[in-house]
Amino acid sequence: MVSKELETAINRQINAELWSAYLYLSMSVHFAHKGLPGFANWFKVQFKEEQDHAHKLMNYLIAKGNKVELQPIAKVDTAWDSVLKAFEVTLEHERVVTSLINDLASMSRKENDFATENMLQWFVNEQVEEEETAQSMIDGLRLIGDNGFGIYTMDKELGKRTYTPLATTSGAE
Ligand code: FEO
Repeated sequence: MVSKELETAINRQINAELWSAYLYLSMSVHFAHKGLPGFANWFKVQFKEEQDHAHKLMNYLIAKGNKVELQPIAKVDTAWDSVLKAFEVTLEHERVVTSLINDLASMSRKENDFATENMLQWFVNEQVEEEETAQSMIDGLRLIGDNGFGIYTMDKELGKRTYTPLATTSGAE
């Protein structure tokens, strides 16, 4: 079992991952309405990946004999001025998630809970990737600026992103 404190903190992280999923689902719907199916697809894949992150944590708590407690998910925005703005918000959001993961990792280290620390390492690495991806989208979109053809081309490109389910059955993979 993990300690009661860590159980509460991991449950908070589950909520944060579902909150991330909800934000990206909202972005996906927004861009679908705006006639940008590729951006909508990209955020829909992101939405599914965040659900996997939540599942990974849930399955870890279950495997350890702890309790999963799902809480209400915070409200998210439903519109963004531009695709660039949406990715800026994404980067800010991922930075918040990174700091939550770091807090959790440091808590598990303080408790000498090596299994939890090890499980969280996957999330530490994932966050590096998440921030890097959002930053590279921002860089690309800043280069494109107001160029409609550039946005059209990027939309086509992002439409190709596919979802690969994450193995979430064990906390250690
Ligand atoms: Fe689950 Fe985007 O971090």
